[in-house]
This record gives sequence, C-alpha cells and structure tokens, in this order.
Amino acid sequence: MNKEIIVAPSLLSADFSCLKEAVEMINDSAAQWLHWDVMDGRFVPNITFGMSVIKALRPYSDKFFDVHLMIEEPGRYVEAFAGAGADLITVHYETAKHLHRVMQQVKNKGKQFGVAINPSTPVGCIQDIIPYADLVLVMSVNPGFGGQEFIDRSLEKLQTARQLIDELNPACRLEVDGGINEQTAPLAVEAGADVLVAGNFIFSHHDPEKAIEILLNN
Ligand code: DX5
Ligand code: ZN
Repeated sequence: MNKEIIVAPSLLSADFSCLKEAVEMINDSAAQWLHWDVMDGRFVPNITFGMSVIKALRPYSDKFFDVHLMIEEPGRYVEAFAGAGADLITVHYETAKHLHRVMQQVKNKGKQFGVAINPSTPVGCIQDIIPYADLVLVMSVNPGFGGQEFIDRSLEKLQTARQLIDELNPACRLEVDGGINEQTAPLAVEAGADVLVAGNFIFSHHDPEKAIEILLNN
C-alpha cells in the first residue's frame, strides 16, 4: 500500500516567545499537520502549554491540528481540547483507565481519536482499541522532551503495529514521534509509519521548510 506520508512539525522545539511565527512558517511549508505536545508535569516530567494556547493560535492556521496529550486523566480534558480547535486528539494508553470511554468522548465531539504507547508498552495492549482509532502513535523516545535519540527497538514495534492496523482497521494512520531526522525517517516509513512527527530536526535546521521537505521526500 502506498499511503501519503504526512509530516507533523512539533512546536515543542519552536521558540515559545514567537509561536505565531512558527505556526506561520509551518503554514508556508509542505507539512500537512501541526503537532502540539501537551504535558502536565505528572505523566511526564515536563510542562508545556494547554488548551488556551492552542485556541489562541487556531485562527492563524488551516493545517490539521494533531494534539498529543501527555497528561494524566485525559478524560477530564478532551472536550476542552476539542473546543480549542484540535482536529485529532491522541491519548496515552498508560494514562486512561477507561480508554474506550475517552475514545467515545473524543468521537462525540466530532474529532479524530488517536492512541499513543510509550517505548516500554507492548503494541498488543492496544489491539482492542485499534478498530476505533484514527491513529496509533508509537513513541520512539520516552515522552517529555524534544531532541532525544531514536530508540531502535521502535522499528519492530512499528512493524507489529502496521500488521495489526492492516488486519483490524486499514484506514488508521501510524505515527512515529521522537528522534525523527533524515536518517531515521526512511527507516520508520519502511517499518510502516505514515505520519512523521519531528521537532528538533526541523526547528534546529537553518532552513526549517527545507528540513520538512527532506522528511517528506525521504
Ligand atoms: C516528546 C514529544 C515529541 C517531541 C519530538 O515527548 O512527544 O513530539 O517534540 O521531538 P524530537 O523530534 O526533537 O525528538
Ligand atoms: Zn508528540
């Protein structure tokens, strides 16, 4: 299957003092999505931004808003993120006791639902939610920070996830997040990923739009 590859620049690596300019750079680029890393200081050690920041920037972009929630008890907040303008809301398997209910909350708001797994979580854990998911996110670093090194074992996890998706829900996308650059992107695509999140590679590049093209054409 030759699915379109999507690049989702992560604003985590952008200069937070001028997020609007970073959004405008993505608008002008070939990237199709915009990836928002929401962290609560509980599920992950870091704290970033919440729904108000996403809502404030929503009017400045028509790109697809891919919201990655790294927060405990996501069911308390998914409606608020839907209201802020998320197009897709991804929740970590490790954070939701009632993941199916959270999926229903997201879908009831008319939004797409994604499920993420940490590097230490087996792909098999999400088998029963894949039929309801629009996206599976395989974390290829431990969530919390940008600029970390890609964990090689993630390639086998992507292959396993790709097999399950093809069997259970072929329309579901497979996203990889963490340590994606011009070396790791083609390996992740080869393993079955079709959405590439990248923060550090794009925003530390002297020409971020070029970096996006490198990932798209890899
Ligand atoms: C990590 C975040 C990632 C991060 C990726 O917790 O989920 O989206 O921004 O950053 P890089 O591409 O720098 O590894
Ligand atoms: Zn992310």
